[in-house]
Amino acid sequence: MSPVLTIDTATAADIEAILGLEETGFAPASRWIGRSWLGEIEGGHHFTPAARDDHGRVVGVAAFQLFADVADLNRIVVDPAHRGRGVGEALLRAGLDWAAGSGAERMLLEVEWANEPALALYRRLGFVEITYRRNYYGPDRDALVMERRLDPTGEGKR
Ligand SMILES: CC(C)(COP(=O)(O)OP(=O)(O)OC[C@H]1O[C@@H](n2cnc3c(N)ncnc32)[C@H](O)[C@@H]1OP(=O)(O)O)[C@@H](O)C(=O)NCCC(=O)NCCS
Repeated sequence: MSPVLTIDTATAADIEAILGLEETGFAPASRWIGRSWLGEIEGGHHFTPAARDDHGRVVGVAAFQLFADVADLNRIVVDPAHRGRGVGEALLRAGLDWAAGSGAERMLLEVEWANEPALALYRRLGFVEITYRRNYYGPDRDALVMERRLDPTGEGKR
């Protein structure tokens, strides 16, 4: 990852920038609107790490949510100009550390089976496929459900 990138937490002031990332990362029908992101940013039991460049501009963001002992990755998107440099990995690692520190025992996510960059990232960080959801993203667009066990005592020490 570029040394000038920092990870902090997204705020409501970042919504416009995040919606710009949504446009680069998702087809119109599956884009989140501002209200959805605000719910993540301001919700209890949520964590929304943001990666910023040296101008403070948001170049990647993710949204995690905790349900008892299970954390979900709800969203992750990185500016295309910054992909393939570990920004997604840094955001996901921040979420894994948050989840483990919050007492979660595992993290779950859904990913379209054909989304190779996302699958590569998730597999590299130890997620394994546990089942699938047929037509989850539309006709013939199945979702893989992936899981990663967490170590509440050791996650932050990786
Ligand atoms: C998925 C996403 C967040 C990854 O962000 P990133 O900053 O590029 O992540 P990283 O650099 O940490 O890792 C990206 C991985 O994708 C791989 N990759 C990049 N482009 C690829 C491509 N066209 N085909 C296959 N793999 C690709 C990289 O090589 C890397 O894997 P590797 O290091 O094991 O080889 C980013 O691609 C994105 O925003 N996609 C659009 C939104 C999206 O699909 N979100 C996930 C929804 S489940």
